[in-house]
Amino acid sequence: MPVPRLRSGSTRVRQSLRRFVEFKGIRRAHDSDYRDTVKKLYDGPRGAAIRLSSVISLHDPLVGYMLRSGQFDIGRFRSILDVGSGSGQILRHVLRQTGDDVRIVACDLSPNMLHRARLRLKSDRPQFVAADMKNLPFADESFDCITCGWVIEHLPDPRPGLREMLRVLQPGGSLLLMATEDTLTGALSSRTWKCRTYNRDELREACEEVGFEWTQQFWFTRMHRALRLGGILVEVRKPV
Ligand SMILES: C[S@@+](CC[C@H](N)C(=O)[O-])C[C@H]1O[C@@H](n2cnc3c(N)ncnc32)[C@H](O)[C@@H]1O
Repeated sequence: MPVPRLRSGSTRVRQSLRRFVEFKGIRRAHDSDYRDTVKKLYDGPRGAAIRLSSVISLHDPLVGYMLRSGQFDIGRFRSILDVGSGSGQILRHVLRQTGDDVRIVACDLSPNMLHRARLRLKSDRPQFVAADMKNLPFADESFDCITCGWVIEHLPDPRPGLREMLRVLQPGGSLLLMATEDTLTGALSSRTWKCRTYNRDELREACEEVGFEWTQQFWFTRMHRALRLGGILVEVRKPV
């Protein structure tokens, strides 16, 4: 039987504060509603702003550093799917760190975001596909790597999205998953992007429940680790 974790008074206060601050719409959304909400949000001006905001929040350059430094070695893969590409924040770095012979596919629920990515990247290497991560239009075991940054927090329940990514990954393939954590900064950011946050242990449980192995966690820098900033950055693998 699981042993309930004892929490101190201050931890409970912090947790209640985070829950109070977090945007509640996604957790309450009916499964059929979330798609329209996400599309409306990202097709519109907020979607256009994400390119600048990801530079200001440093997540764009920090993902670049993570791939360049080999912390997550993207160079070992031959077919990469970027789920929820937005205007190409992660895709841009994936293109830089991989050779021309690597197959790259970018998918997003919002056609406007894909259009922005296409204009920004000016590359004919990625194939752009409008799709919902809960229903990916790819055959089983099509990719040996998936990158998915700050997308899964738009799903009321992460498991259908995780299951689809597991399905299209080859055995032994890796998913680099990045998600907003249930910290105070995460809760504040969930208000701007109308998403939810994840508790690290709960996200791990969901990944393991669908069949992923929780392989390696990352932090952008030591400061991010010490202050619990930057969100949940993890490599999960499909068992061989
Ligand atoms: C916060 S942006 C992240 C963009 C980029 N990955 C990055 O790291 O900056 C979230 C993106 O996920 C897309 N998205 C949200 N829910 C999705 C879903 N169910 N399927 C596919 N894309 C989705 C949105 O349209 C948006 O472009």
